[in-house]
Amino acid sequence: MDNGTPPQRILVTGAEGMLGTDLCAALRTGAWRSQDQPGDVEVVGLDLPEFDITDAADCRKQMAELRPHCVIHCAGYTDVDGCTREPLKAYMVNGDGTRNVAEAAESVGAQLVYISTDYVFDGTKGRAYVEQDTPNPINAYGESKLLGEEHVRQVCGHWQIVRTQWLFGRHGRNFVAAIVEAAKRDGRVRAVNDQFGSPTYTKDLSELICQVISLPTGVYHATNSGRASWYDVAAAALEAARLSEVELTPTPASEWPTPTARPAYGVLGNAALRAAGVPAARPWEKALAEFVDTYLADWRTRVA
Ligand SMILES: NC(=O)c1ccc[n+]([C@@H]2O[C@H](COP(=O)([O-])OP(=O)(O)OC[C@H]3O[C@@H](n4cnc5c(N)ncnc54)[C@H](OP(=O)(O)O)[C@@H]3O)[C@@H](O)[C@H]2O)c1
Repeated sequence: MDNGTPPQRILVTGAEGMLGTDLCAALRTGAWRSQDQPGDVEVVGLDLPEFDITDAADCRKQMAELRPHCVIHCAGYTDVDGCTREPLKAYMVNGDGTRNVAEAAESVGAQLVYISTDYVFDGTKGRAYVEQDTPNPINAYGESKLLGEEHVRQVCGHWQIVRTQWLFGRHGRNFVAAIVEAAKRDGRVRAVNDQFGSPTYTKDLSELICQVISLPTGVYHATNSGRASWYDVAAAALEAARLSEVELTPTPASEWPTPTARPAYGVLGNAALRAAGVPAARPWEKALAEFVDTYLADWRTRVA
């Protein structure tokens, strides 16, 4: 479309990560834009090593050169157990790094969309978290992401915080792929059956984020529909991969070897998106079945 209006430039940080890759692709289709939004969209994806969010001066410099209208901040230190082992790195990347991105975005008048997590909550509520619930993180990753949220609120004039959870997608390490790989390798799988969340496909989340761009400043929970335990996710992944004969053992979190405490019930209700008229994403089971098909097709291509 060439109607003489300059393109709207959207900058994505962490553009080569699991979410960032799908998000850049979704933004580039332009299909999410309503008809009353003139002009094209230009998507600029940045990631390490060319763009390091812990370098405040360079963030400002690159932002001043690119002058985006909107920044979608996906970059982060996302290894939850790594954050427990290296909390300073977590605070530096997810906390200070987000402040650097927020200040740089604000310096050019750009809107900031920050991708955050259910790990800002402690998981003790026993029912779905709403956007107004008070955060209370129980591990370093959650604390560092909450610090990031606080910087966004303090620094930015026009912002959205999008909290999501339990991501799976084609372009990164994730639980669903790990289950399928373990089943093929070991012929048996264990999965935690007393922690609950909403498994979310990065492809579906990307479409929700595209909608969030035109919503008012605020916090939005964005996930696929429904809730599951890790055990439910593993069972669905094995069924989708036609590996149902593989032995699947339910395991309490207390017996799982991990250095990190995780929220027992972190399900995110998507009330703010519903109130804004954004339709619910499909149930996680449907999204997961599509992902497993795609994952297996990619895997067959790799080993062929
Ligand atoms: N995965 C989940 O289940 C989940 C759930 C809730 C929220 N989130 C949030 O969603 C966002 C995207 O997650 P994801 O799963 O797509 O993560 P990811 O695959 O790890 O992608 C994060 C990207 O950020 C980059 N990065 C790390 N440190 C950086 C730095 N100092 N400067 C610039 N870039 C840096 C990483 O590069 P390297 O790979 O080279 O380190 C990677 O490309 C994150 O903010 C995460 O907190 C994720």
